[in-house]
Amino acid sequence: MLPPVPVITVDGPSGAGKGTISHMLAERLGWHLLDSGALYRVTGQACVIEGVSWDDYSAVAQIARHLEVAFSTAKSGEILVAYKGLDVSLAIRTEEGGRGASKVAAIPAVREALLQRQRELQRSPGLVADGRDMGTVVFRNAPLKFFLTASVLERASRRYAQLIAKGESVSLPRLLEDIEERDTRDRSREASPLVPAEDAIVIDSSASSIAEVFERVMHEVRNKGFDE
Ligand code: DC
Repeated sequence: MLPPVPVITVDGPSGAGKGTISHMLAERLGWHLLDSGALYRVTGQACVIEGVSWDDYSAVAQIARHLEVAFSTAKSGEILVAYKGLDVSLAIRTEEGGRGASKVAAIPAVREALLQRQRELQRSPGLVADGRDMGTVVFRNAPLKFFLTASVLERASRRYAQLIAKGESVSLPRLLEDIEERDTRDRSREASPLVPAEDAIVIDSSASSIAEVFERVMHEVRNKGFDE
C-alpha cells in the first residue's frame, strides 16, 4: 500500500499569522494549500447573495451542501475566490465577511457539508491545511500539527495595521471587541471548537516576527524529514 499523502495542519485563532505561515510553508514545500476559513467565508457570503439569514440553520446548511465555489490564482499571485462565477475575493475578507463565517461555522450541518470537500484536497505531494479544526477533526492523523496563537491585543493590532494599509477606516477598540466575540464563539461552540490538538506544537507569536515563527515551523518540518 502507498503511504498516505502527508498533511501539515496549522490551526489557531484569527490574526495569529496562520494564513501567512501556511502560504509560506506550502510554497516552500511545493505542496497544496487548503484555506478552510475561505470555505466558511464563502458560505456566509453565499447566504448574503441568496438572501438567506445566517440564523436560518437549515437554509444555510443547504447552501453549504451545494456550494459552487472556485479558487484560482491571479497573475499577481493573489488567490481569487468565486461563488457561482461571481468574484467574492474582496467581500469575504471584510470584517462582515469574517462575522458571517464565524456564525455559519457554528452550525454542525454546515461543518458536516464542508468536511468531504476539505478532505478531497489531500493530494500528492502533500497538503498544508489552515483552519481551526484541521488537526482535531478534518485531518486527525496528520503527522505534523501546529497551533499558532497570539494575544488578543497583538492580533487586533495586526489586523488594524492591515486594514489601515488597505485604506479602510477602522477603530482598534471595535476590532478588539470583534475579535474577542469571534474567539468566544469559535472556542465555545459544540461542533469542532477551537482547541489545540493534543499532539499539536503550540507557538505563541505575540513577540515574534513572521520570519521567526516560520523558522521555528521549518525546524519541526525538517525534523520530520519533509524538507529535502
Ligand atoms: O481563518 P478565517 O479567519 O478565514 O476563518 C473565518 C471563520 O471561519 C472563523 O471565525 C472560524 C471559522 N472557521 C472554522 O470554524 N473552521 C475552520 N477550519 C476554519 C475557519
